[in-house]
Amino acid sequence: MIRIATIVGARPQFIKAAALTHEFRSNFKDHIDERLVHTGQHYDKRMSSLFFEELGLPEPEVTLPTFSGDHGFSTGNMLVEIEKALKHLAPDLAIVFGDTNSTLAGALAAVKLSIPVAHVEAGLRSGNRYMPEELNRMITDRISALNFAPSDGAFKQLSSEALGESSRLVGDIMYDAVKLFTGLSKLRSVSTADSSPRKVLVTIHRQENTDSDSRLYEIAHGLLAMVPDFELTLPIHPRLTSALDRIGMLDAAKQKLNIVEPLSFIETIGELRESALVITDSGGLQKEAFYLGVQCITVREETEWPETIHLGWNRLANPAEVNLCELAQSLVGSKGRAGNPFGNGNTSSKIAEEICKSDWAGYFD
Ligand code: UD1
Repeated sequence: MIRIATIVGARPQFIKAAALTHEFRSNFKDHIDERLVHTGQHYDKRMSSLFFEELGLPEPEVTLPTFSGDHGFSTGNMLVEIEKALKHLAPDLAIVFGDTNSTLAGALAAVKLSIPVAHVEAGLRSGNRYMPEELNRMITDRISALNFAPSDGAFKQLSSEALGESSRLVGDIMYDAVKLFTGLSKLRSVSTADSSPRKVLVTIHRQENTDSDSRLYEIAHGLLAMVPDFELTLPIHPRLTSALDRIGMLDAAKQKLNIVEPLSFIETIGELRESALVITDSGGLQKEAFYLGVQCITVREETEWPETIHLGWNRLANPAEVNLCELAQSLVGSKGRAGNPFGNGNTSSKIAEEICKSDWAGYFD
C-alpha cells in the first residue's frame, strides 16, 4: 500500500484533486491510501468547502490555519505548518498540483523531509518571471520526483530543462474533472445550442491584473464599455472586490455588471455553457472554455496554454490596446478548429498507474 499525502489549498486544486481522488478510491483502493492536507490558502466557504461538498472530496486529514499576506509570509508559514502535517502523516509520497503558493510550500516541505513529490500539471511556462505562479512551478518541477505534463509542449519544456527522466506525458487532469463532474462525455460541441449571443462570463483575479491601478482601470473600463451590447456576469474573487474598491470602480461595476459570488465548479460549467464567450485571466477557465467549445479572450500578456490559441479558441488581449467590445463582437458565433492536445480525459488513471510502478519508500536512499 502506498501512503500518499495530497496537498491542496486553492480552488483549482480542489477540482484537480477531486478527479484524482475519485480514481484512487474507485480503481486503486487496494494500492493507494491517500490523505488530504488543506493548506488553508483559500478559506471562504464559496472558495473552499463548497468545492469539497460538490465534488465529493473527503474531509482533509489536516486543515492548516490561514496565513494570508505577502508571498513570503504566506508561503513560509504554510511551509512550517505543512512540515508538521507531513511528519504526522509520514506518507511515502506527496502530491501537489499546479503553481500556487500551496504547491511550492507543499513540495518544499516534503522534499526537506525526504518525502518524494509528484507534481501534477508540470512543465507549464509563461516565460514571465514576475508572476508568482511562474516561480512556483519552475521550482516545484525542479524538486519533484515525478512531473506529470498535461501537454506535449509541457513535456518538451521539462525535457529541455533536463527533467525528462522524471517527466510523464499524461494529459490534462482538468479534462477528467470536466467530464467526470458534468457528466458531459461529449465535449467541444455542447455549448452554443442553449447559449445566448449576448451573454459573457468574466473572471479576473490575477495579481498582474489587480495590483496595478492603471492595468485594472483599463480592464474595468473595457468591460463596462461592453454594456449594453453584452450582458456580463462576473463571479467576483475577493482580491478583485478590494482592487476595484481601491481604484473607485466597484460601484460602477456593481451597477453595470451582474456581479455574483464566486461560483462552484458545476455552476461555472453551467454558466459557461450558456455564454457566447468568456473573458478571463484564469488558466483553468481557458481550458474549460476550450473543452466546452466556448470562445475565450484571455486578459493577459501570455498564456501557459498556447495550444488553445493555436487552435483558434483563445486569444490574448490587453484592454489598453484592444477594444474588448469589438473583439467580442467579432467572436460571437465563431468556432476554432477541431483537435484536443490535452489527452482523453483519463489522466487520473495514468497518474495512478505511474505512481504504483515505483517503490517510494526507499526513493532517497
Ligand atoms: C491563488 C493563486 C493563483 C490561482 C488562484 C486560484 C498563488 C500565488 N496564486 O490566487 O495562481 O489562480 O489562487 O483562485 O498562490 N482571499 C479571501 N478568501 C479566500 C481566498 C482568498 O478573502 O477564500 C483573499 C486573500 O486573503 C488575499 C486575496 O484574496 O487577500 C488573494 O488570495 P491568495 O490566496 O493570496 O491568492 P489568489 O489571488 O486566490
